[in-house]
Amino acid sequence: MNLKGNDPIGVFDSGLGGLTVVKELLHELPNERIVYFGDTARVPYGTKSRETIIRYSKEIVSVLLKRRVKMVIVACNTASSLALDVLKAEYKLPIIGVIDPGARKAAMTTKNKKVAIIATHSTVKSGKYAKRLKQLKRGLNIISQPCPLFVPLVEEGWLEHDITIQTAQEYLKDLKAAQVDTLILGCTHYPLLKKVIGYVMGPKVTLIDSAKEIAFEVKSTLLERGLLRTDLKPPDHLYLVSDEPDIFKYRAVKFLGCSMDNVKRYSL
Ligand code: DGL
Repeated sequence: MNLKGNDPIGVFDSGLGGLTVVKELLHELPNERIVYFGDTARVPYGTKSRETIIRYSKEIVSVLLKRRVKMVIVACNTASSLALDVLKAEYKLPIIGVIDPGARKAAMTTKNKKVAIIATHSTVKSGKYAKRLKQLKRGLNIISQPCPLFVPLVEEGWLEHDITIQTAQEYLKDLKAAQVDTLILGCTHYPLLKKVIGYVMGPKVTLIDSAKEIAFEVKSTLLERGLLRTDLKPPDHLYLVSDEPDIFKYRAVKFLGCSMDNVKRYSL
């Protein structure tokens, strides 16, 4: 495969959420071009089976390859948990998921060896974060909690709403009681709830943002492989969605922190 530095980075997610990863990429690698695919017609992934997630992920990677991407970032935690191994075995270009960078940072951060993971049902069920954490550090006490209602609350824009605080109190009570000192935000949407989650868990708990961690990993991979973009023209970005672009554009502002132009519909 002839990968070129000036080609774009491909990023995909089940929908909007992966824009939390794009935001960090734009910050960390401002000269890179990005092609994003949000599978808005088939979101959520967090309740679907492994077979389905693998099939969807392969379809999206093929679309990204047609756009000549030099690397694929699986921004979706669910797809990273269930499909990353298969994608890596099938395609020749670098493919990075969010689990590894997030788990590494958590293993480095915890002092009392009590780590919590919050994620979708499918990510928790896959056990991928827990498995990776155990490989990275001995004697960890790991507790996982699915928090499915966080996704619609974020999409509704209720980032600091009383209902969101109450929901967080209910979901996080066992993690608090377990006195974890590190908590992995194992879903694309959760970084937007950092304020509420931090408030509920208290100041002694460090929140691990997988979106931030993957951006560092992408940078070092591009550097190592000599694949950083060298073109001096300002980078162009393209956002492809499998359903109506207008809703995506409207909601995306919260995730990205700015508006976006180039959003197109791509039916799978
Ligand atoms: N993007 C998904 C994840 O990070 C959350 C939304 C969904 O369930 O599709 O797991």
